[in-house]
Amino acid sequence: MHVDDFLKELDAALGSQYILRDDQDKVPYLTDWRGLYTGIALAVVLPKDTAQIVAIVKICQQYQVAIVPQGGNTSLTGSATPEASGSQIVVSLKRMNAIRHLDLQNQTITVEAGCILQVVQEEVKKHDAFFPLSLAAQGSCTIGGNLATNAGGTNVLRFGNARDLCLGLEVVTPQGEILHGLRGLRKDNTGYDLRNLYIGSEGTLGIITAAVMKLYPAPINHSAALVAVADFPMMMGLLHFLQKRASAELTAFEMMTQESIDLTIQHFPQFDTPIIHQAPFTILIELFEYQEEKLPTASSMLEGLLEEAMQHAFLGDAVLANNLSQVKAFWQIREHITMAQAKEPENLKFDIAFPLSNLSGFIAETDQMLRQAFPGIRIINFGHLGDGNLHYNLCAPKDADPGYMADHESKIVSMVYQQITQFAGSISAEHGIGQLKREHLKQHRGDVAYHVMQNIKRALDPDNLFNPNKVLIRHDL
Ligand code: FAD
Ligand code: MLT
Ligand code: ZN
Repeated sequence: MHVDDFLKELDAALGSQYILRDDQDKVPYLTDWRGLYTGIALAVVLPKDTAQIVAIVKICQQYQVAIVPQGGNTSLTGSATPEASGSQIVVSLKRMNAIRHLDLQNQTITVEAGCILQVVQEEVKKHDAFFPLSLAAQGSCTIGGNLATNAGGTNVLRFGNARDLCLGLEVVTPQGEILHGLRGLRKDNTGYDLRNLYIGSEGTLGIITAAVMKLYPAPINHSAALVAVADFPMMMGLLHFLQKRASAELTAFEMMTQESIDLTIQHFPQFDTPIIHQAPFTILIELFEYQEEKLPTASSMLEGLLEEAMQHAFLGDAVLANNLSQVKAFWQIREHITMAQAKEPENLKFDIAFPLSNLSGFIAETDQMLRQAFPGIRIINFGHLGDGNLHYNLCAPKDADPGYMADHESKIVSMVYQQITQFAGSISAEHGIGQLKREHLKQHRGDVAYHVMQNIKRALDPDNLFNPNKVLIRHDL
């Protein structure tokens, strides 16, 4: 391959200022958010529209250069980081950030893949609509990345994950063709569901260039509470009670353990509030309010429900947000757990899911096994409990020697993964596989499922040029 010729063709297609070759310019695109992986790229390419992506893909086909699509680079599995070979290019979608069409009658928005999630949320809010996807990385992650990872976040309980919010996609295939699927249809049984094939494919099957996303009416108010809970039976009782009594209004049920809160307040003392020090678990509950004339309001409804729940002994103490800024303050605690853990030098993250009926068994048994095998290990367990999704994370003991986690990683991972299997869970609830979990995918999903995935990948990307060695291992293709 003649690298110079390849780069010259890219220059001609996009303009040389959009082909980053300088090491300094490439830095922000080469390391993942957690700092676990650093790659080397031949170039970082910044297309402005779908036609330019088609041109890039065709040039890459001709020179057999692999492409790593990238949005906001907030992946927690190293899925948007190129390999160290220096033979791949990163295609960053960040210049493709136009809002193409807002259809308020159909309650949809058509956006380019590089649109920042928060920008979409804010844009629709101006029109009294609501886009429910919500996660702590929303100020930098993109709709394309959200779809490519099938992101979840904090509103899945009520509105579903990125897949559930998407009605149509525009995709550039590995052959450089454009799949035109930007249709805002809520029903469409015309053959295989191609949209759902690309959602969650982590850039391995095509580049998502635009999407039609569902909107909802904007809530007129939010109410939230922090609730102290002593144990799992109480927590499950509370969840079921709220689901029954608040049904559609219940949008979040987020669990934080005492350890995860302590770590967060240690690093971000500005978010401290007395209630969160009271019990082994604190639950952040959020209710949306839609009808102006409705009585009681969401906040008085939540208050009433919590009083009732307290009588049933589903909770210890509770504090209700008095206004929107207090609602935000509650969320700040929850959303800073990841940032707090990132400040710890040595940590492992497990983004896992279980049937709700198995959650407490997994936690009780696995906590005990880990504490016994690794005295002093810190278990930072929090997550989207209403969805059965735990962020079961570990930090090295306070007094551990440097390198503790690296030394014990394989034993810890195999213990936790065995427990996930035993409790019928998933090794990836919402962050995907990327490069972090690719070695475990086959065993976890089984030979037949893996084989079907191999066949799909071979059929759609026969030269393995789209994000190779992510999700599926290179030598399996
Ligand atoms: P990137 O990181 O750039 O890419 C992710 C993957 O998508 C890569 O495989 C990449 O190749 C592919 N990709 C990106 N754009 C495209 C495209 N246009 N076409 C095809 N493939 C593409 N995730 C959750 O699910 N829930 C959470 O609550 C959550 N919270 C987070 C909090 C923090 C602080 C951080 C740092 C991350 C969090 N994440 C969460 C993980 C991450 O933010 C999401 O997975 C997000 O959806 C990734 O979007 P991105 O634009 O940054 O994608
Ligand atoms: C979250 O729910 O905050 C995210 O998924 C991030 C994480 O797991 O750390
Ligand atoms: Zn999460």
